[in-house]
Amino acid sequence: MATATQIKSLIKSHYESDNDTFLTAALQVAAHEARQGHSALAQDIRSLIERSRREAKPLTNPFASDEDGLFLAVEPKYCLSELIVPKELHDRLERILVEYRQKDKLERHGLRHRRRILLAGPSGTGKTMTADVIAHDLRLPLYVVLMERIVTKYMGETSAKLRMVFDKIRDKRGVYLFDEFDAIGAERSLGNDVGEMRRVLNSFLQFVEQDPSDSILVAATNNLSLLDQALFRRFDDVLYYRLPDKQEVKHLIENSLGRFRCNLDVSDLSSAMEGLSHAEIVLACMDAKKEAILTDSKEVDCTLLEKTLRDRHTIFRPNSQKEQTEFA
Ligand SMILES: Nc1ncnc2c1ncn2[C@@H]1O[C@H](COP(=O)(O)OP(=O)(O)O)[C@@H](O)[C@H]1O
Ligand SMILES: [Mg+2]
Repeated sequence: MATATQIKSLIKSHYESDNDTFLTAALQVAAHEARQGHSALAQDIRSLIERSRREAKPLTNPFASDEDGLFLAVEPKYCLSELIVPKELHDRLERILVEYRQKDKLERHGLRHRRRILLAGPSGTGKTMTADVIAHDLRLPLYVVLMERIVTKYMGETSAKLRMVFDKIRDKRGVYLFDEFDAIGAERSLGNDVGEMRRVLNSFLQFVEQDPSDSILVAATNNLSLLDQALFRRFDDVLYYRLPDKQEVKHLIENSLGRFRCNLDVSDLSSAMEGLSHAEIVLACMDAKKEAILTDSKEVDCTLLEKTLRDRHTIFRPNSQKEQTEFA
């Protein structure tokens, strides 16, 4: 039997993901068993180790080992036609794509393609999806920059991490999404650590401005008023998102329900869908579709969709659910 020290070492290194110590401890157990005359067990342990080492998979996240987990590589899946936005916004997104595709032509005239984009608007209106669309349609890899890992309470550490991010942006062409961007961009006068946040913000702005790469930087925020005006000037484009209008809701419902769609009159759903974001409407359609499948129905009718839309108004508001049951 392995010694108490070896067992403790195995458990500790496992929970600390310390592979080297784990391996050393496991080999020590094998040696210990061999000394005790348990040669079959010792051999079994060594074979297990050998096999696991051979089968060990390389890390799938290309950044996990060298970038300290500052990025998440995401497989883009949406195309521009799936993004339901007003025509003007659609045209501006198309312009970003066209400029990227013909960046060499622009460069020959000393011009750069639009590549620093700020997206602002309420939650669930398609900002994250837009970064996905740009990457997908330009066949570029999409990297989500994990803001919460970058902004730490230590200024020096934050700056060092920002530098790593921008080194990567320069070295590996792609679409880089700074989601929930407010973590860096928060109004300079807010918070207690004003001086520090200002320095972080300034160094971020410098990196943005000096970035020589062809990569596309997308910064998204749900709360534009929190952002410092100085930020806007550093971007090539600021795009505003809003809740969908009736026509857009109709389009969203048609796309989301697919073959489950029946003759729905969106005007009948006006009050149920009021104030809901694109994301909430898509989720309500998915709920209705599931209900239809589970009740062996081939279609989603107005009553069912109205119910799932209304549910969306209360689903993340526990108080209103409580009120509903109390007054039912
Ligand atoms: N404008 C839109 N057109 C089509 N689908 C949308 C739109 N906005 C949101 N969605 C749906 O909602 C999901 C979440 O939206 P997301 O882009 O994350 O919103 P945001 O980043 O603005 O909070 C998307 O993956 C998509 O399914
Ligand atoms: Mg988002």
